Amino acid sequence: MSRKLRLGVNIDHVATIRNARGIAHPDPIRAARMAAEAGADGITAHLREDRRHISDDDIDRLAAQIELPLNLEMAATDEMLAIALHHKPHAACIVPEKRAELTTEGGLDAHGGENHLRRYVDEMVKAGIRVSLFIDPDESQIRSARRLGAPVVELHTGTYAEMTPGSDAWAQELERIVQGAALAEDLGLECHAGHGLSYDNVGAIAAIPNLVELNIGHFLVGEAIFGGLDSAIKRMRALMDQARAEATGSRSA
Ligand code: PXP
Repeated sequence: MSRKLRLGVNIDHVATIRNARGIAHPDPIRAARMAAEAGADGITAHLREDRRHISDDDIDRLAAQIELPLNLEMAATDEMLAIALHHKPHAACIVPEKRAELTTEGGLDAHGGENHLRRYVDEMVKAGIRVSLFIDPDESQIRSARRLGAPVVELHTGTYAEMTPGSDAWAQELERIVQGAALAEDLGLECHAGHGLSYDNVGAIAAIPNLVELNIGHFLVGEAIFGGLDSAIKRMRALMDQARAEATGSRSA
């Protein structure tokens, strides 16, 4: 029997929309609660150094109020390490971070950065946090993650997601992920994947038997607009019509 594939819901872009107005709505913690009710297995949030979406307060509230396992995405910096050690989330995924990027571009260089990363992995593993490294599906990166003692790797599916399904390049990239996931499992690592996954491209990734978890955010938050805009407009319309009817009724009474 095949293992159930876990779904980690990334709520960063609920915070992106909230921050566009600088007010409390929409609250990513409310989204995390909905995700739990809808069957998510975990909540993922990336506390970026520039705090462009998720804030420190969001992490405090996620840790205090949400029962699902929290996967904190973080850069390998002392500031983020201190936050992770303070909250001790279920998991921490170390990602590369460049200030000017729109999203996480490419995987972490675990191979070239072994010396820098070792202290972060060691300290978090010692604190009981499941440390994951977000890497490209390359043999050298996966072997470095193993050498570093991280129990989990998350394979970056962004390149795959940008390719035309069915093209030779797409098939090659998919095969790289298939091989990477198999190698990770052989080495005793738990293997996750994520970035850029959508209804159109998740199937081939979800079918890879060695994968244990997918982390998906931007598409879900975007798609929720189309699933929910209709009912939001209808409710607003009803509230307006009701208020107008009541006002007209009280004037004519
Ligand atoms: N996994 C990691 C490590 C990420 O950094 C991200 C993006 O924050 C995701 C998964 C989710 O990617 P997307 O928002 O494109 O679904």
